[in-house]
Amino acid sequence: MALEVSLKFKKCYLNAANSRLPDCARMSAGRGMISKLGTIARALRVRELSLLLICDSNLIWRNLVAHTDEHEGTRRDFLYYATAGTGAVVAGAAVWPLVNQMNPSADVRALASIRVDLADVEPGTQITVLWQGKPVFIRRRTSNEIEAARAVKMDELIDANGRNDNKPDLLAVDENRALDESGEWLVMLGVCTHLGCVPLGDGAGEFGGWFCPCHGSHYDTAGRIRKGPAPENLLVPYARFDGANELVIGKESA
Ligand code: FES
Repeated sequence: MALEVSLKFKKCYLNAANSRLPDCARMSAGRGMISKLGTIARALRVRELSLLLICDSNLIWRNLVAHTDEHEGTRRDFLYYATAGTGAVVAGAAVWPLVNQMNPSADVRALASIRVDLADVEPGTQITVLWQGKPVFIRRRTSNEIEAARAVKMDELIDANGRNDNKPDLLAVDENRALDESGEWLVMLGVCTHLGCVPLGDGAGEFGGWFCPCHGSHYDTAGRIRKGPAPENLLVPYARFDGANELVIGKESA
């Protein structure tokens, strides 16, 4: 069993979220957990393991799903996780579109909007928060990232639609993707538009933006799909600033 993605985390806990996984399967381990995953899965005779990952002091829940070889022949192994947290830089990776496995709690689903303090987000870094059960990437871009995004011509883009809920049906030029006029802030759902994995960030991929390892989709520094099977740019959700440092994602109910 070969797992295809390396993850950045310090601890992970097996979670019995999968009904086929007994409670006694809960355990913790260090960085070596991923390499042990196949052994664990085989020992438990399950095809899928859901993992709850804790990264630093920030609670980050991710589903990690491993498919083991239960039958003859080969079956590829996949990882999936979604990340959430504040004040943390989290690299996400996912390998299989088991969005339903994310199982957000009812209260999380009920949140129409969330508020995020961006005071500690430095240029060139990003944080990932959970909104309505989905990871949202919030990146404070450097001038180089902004320049790179704005130098791209429309005919170089796979998806010409800006996919921005704040500016519906406009062209995918960088100005229609960024949250602010200067282009410093980029807010996007961290959900690959191919089959729903969580792309890697922080300059990953051939275009210096995000990369989805599931099937090789490359997004640029504006989150636009540039190469690979994903058909659309990463979705920009409804978001606005409230004051200098507070970001509101989603529409607040009256
Ligand atoms: S889910 Fe297939 S490339 Fe992202």
